[in-house]
Amino acid sequence: MNWQQHWRLRPDTIYLNHGSFGPPPIPVQQARLEWQHKLDEQPMDFFLRQLEPAWFAVRDRLAKFVGTTAANLIFVDNATVGMNIVADSFRLSAGDEVLLTNHEYGAVERIWDRACGLVGAQRKTVELPLPFTTAAETVDRIMSAVTPRTKLIVISHITSPTAVTLPVKEVCAAARERGIATCIDGPHALVQEDVALDALGCDFYTASCHKWLSAPFGTGFLYAAPVHQPNIRPPYLSWGRLPPTKLNNWADEFLWSGTRDYAAILAIPAAIDFIESIGLKTFRAHAHSLARYAREKLCELTGLEPIIPDDPAWYCSMAHVPLPPGSRQPLQENLWQQFHIEIPVVEWNGGRYIRVSCHLYNEQSQVDKLLPALRELLGKEPKPAT
Ligand SMILES: Cc1ncc(COP(=O)(O)O)c(C=O)c1O
Repeated sequence: MNWQQHWRLRPDTIYLNHGSFGPPPIPVQQARLEWQHKLDEQPMDFFLRQLEPAWFAVRDRLAKFVGTTAANLIFVDNATVGMNIVADSFRLSAGDEVLLTNHEYGAVERIWDRACGLVGAQRKTVELPLPFTTAAETVDRIMSAVTPRTKLIVISHITSPTAVTLPVKEVCAAARERGIATCIDGPHALVQEDVALDALGCDFYTASCHKWLSAPFGTGFLYAAPVHQPNIRPPYLSWGRLPPTKLNNWADEFLWSGTRDYAAILAIPAAIDFIESIGLKTFRAHAHSLARYAREKLCELTGLEPIIPDDPAWYCSMAHVPLPPGSRQPLQENLWQQFHIEIPVVEWNGGRYIRVSCHLYNEQSQVDKLLPALRELLGKEPKPAT
């Protein structure tokens, strides 16, 4: 299948980093543009009459896609905003603990360090077993770090520096048994995994739609379980709804956050339509087999073992492979400058890794170009002193 035709990607680039920034396909770009035209040609009519019904319809569509009731969702610009809202709203006191794993996104650590620091609470980190073996072992390790002071567990659905799918449902269940709240950092999970929020049983879920769902940049959502909704504080206070009207629930605070371009959010259904027209199964089959191929070939090249088993339960469309010891730069920049390959090299936990993202527009020939490029650059690196 020629899925590349649906994207307008720069022909000089081998783009293997959908996981950081996922370019939207052409139908999604068109949908965003149409919404922008509607705004630009009659702003009063758009903001006062068209925006709210459109916002509610888009939310209904997204809610079906992520398995919850629309009333539990609000739109945010990205997962970062969602996580900040949780951190600003979740009640912590001096002595409380918020537990993260050592695979969390750096900005998320900063968000919780600040929130904890403001009230004298503490951000704790649990180191997950390496290599990963079973979901049960991972859950046990997380829960073994819980203390009577733990109020919240913040974990990724799919981790950023290591591309591991964590057993979030089991963690949520174990946390609930102990009366601990859970916040799932989920920007990578949409489309890679079935995200079924009500069944997942978390307290909060933050996501970006501009990663694997390929919605326009600047689209994300926050899910809050009903019990937490009255405590959610909008980061910027505006009218909430326009024209100003009585606010009836938490989400009403987020419909109108000041004058801005809402086109990206309103184009989310186009992204859902696009991926559903191809089929989630088809996406996953293509993306996983390519990621698996990349993983196998890279391991042959380096002779090193990945940190997770070769099993779709642990990864879908991102291959994560260790590289010989060294630093991220200049390797990542040289892959781009010398070979036009855009791919992240990650320093994590004292090691160096490469993360290959595989979307529909990626193909085996691109991975085949990565291999000799990497071999050449690694070969030129000075050998570490022994
Ligand atoms: C696990 C994880 N959390 C949060 C983020 C932040 O996402 P955004 O920049 O869309 O807010 C990322 C981005 O890569 C991520 O991988």
